[in-house]
Amino acid sequence: MQLEYHCLKGVDFKGHEMEVFRTVAEVQEKCEQIRFSGKSLAFVPTMGFFHQGHLELMKAARKIADKVIISIFVNPTQFGPTEDFETYPRDTEGDLVKAREVGVDIAFVPSVEEIYPEGFQTMVKVQGVTQHLCGLSRPGHFDGVTTVVAKLFNITKPHVAVFGQKDYQQLTVITRMVKDLNFDIKIVGVPTVREPDGLAMSSRNSYLTPQQRKSALCLKKSLDLATEMVSRGKRKADEIKRAVQELILNHPFTKIDYVSVCDPVTLENVDVLRGNTLLALAVRVGKTRLIDNCILSPSGPE
Ligand code: PAF
Repeated sequence: MQLEYHCLKGVDFKGHEMEVFRTVAEVQEKCEQIRFSGKSLAFVPTMGFFHQGHLELMKAARKIADKVIISIFVNPTQFGPTEDFETYPRDTEGDLVKAREVGVDIAFVPSVEEIYPEGFQTMVKVQGVTQHLCGLSRPGHFDGVTTVVAKLFNITKPHVAVFGQKDYQQLTVITRMVKDLNFDIKIVGVPTVREPDGLAMSSRNSYLTPQQRKSALCLKKSLDLATEMVSRGKRKADEIKRAVQELILNHPFTKIDYVSVCDPVTLENVDVLRGNTLLALAVRVGKTRLIDNCILSPSGPE
């Protein structure tokens, strides 16, 4: 089905109307109207290629605010020169249908030129929490994320913005940015959505071959192993990390980027688990880089 990008005003899909905008000026005006009418606005920024995880973010947004806006934009500034910007999976037409079906009111689908017009030269940089985990293996990645999210916040001016906890560091970095730059926006984190066998949903799962897909289960298995070790009284971060690394490397096609046991707020490594602690993983399965995380709670499940 070909959807008209510019504006789908009045088109009724499964009983719900969704408007689609491609320009900053138009979407800004629409969001302004919503605020002016006294309605609350929740925003879900995405890079598209929707799976159930994205749809859960939109459903959460639906519950929080009167109106829901999403953006679909594969943001070039958060990809390194050797990363998958060009090949990142895209399905805008399918995404718009799915978004409308879960009750999204507005979709903003800008071009790269609309977001980064000629002459663009401002970046937003968060310092401390970007210096760990993915920040180490993907230099500049979070500068791209914070820059585009700050721009999208300024364009849509939402009351609430919703992010997935699978990208735990991203959620932490955005929360920091919002606080530091006094954005008047509440940031809400939504739990990771998993396939029935435990694999965290990700657009990049589509890169995996069937054998790699099986191997990719090692991420969730290793989170479960660590959780079980903590429930048996293990508290030494090194011991937990070693067990996790061993489990992952026992699966074919895997290469560990990092296994980190760290403070859930500062993301700094901890030696001994005293309170809630983040276990965060990045693992390459074949050429696909996957991330996952969980909170280890020495005092029992939260
Ligand atoms: O999580 C994502 O999909 C992206 O990093 C985001 C937040 C949409 C910014 O491009």
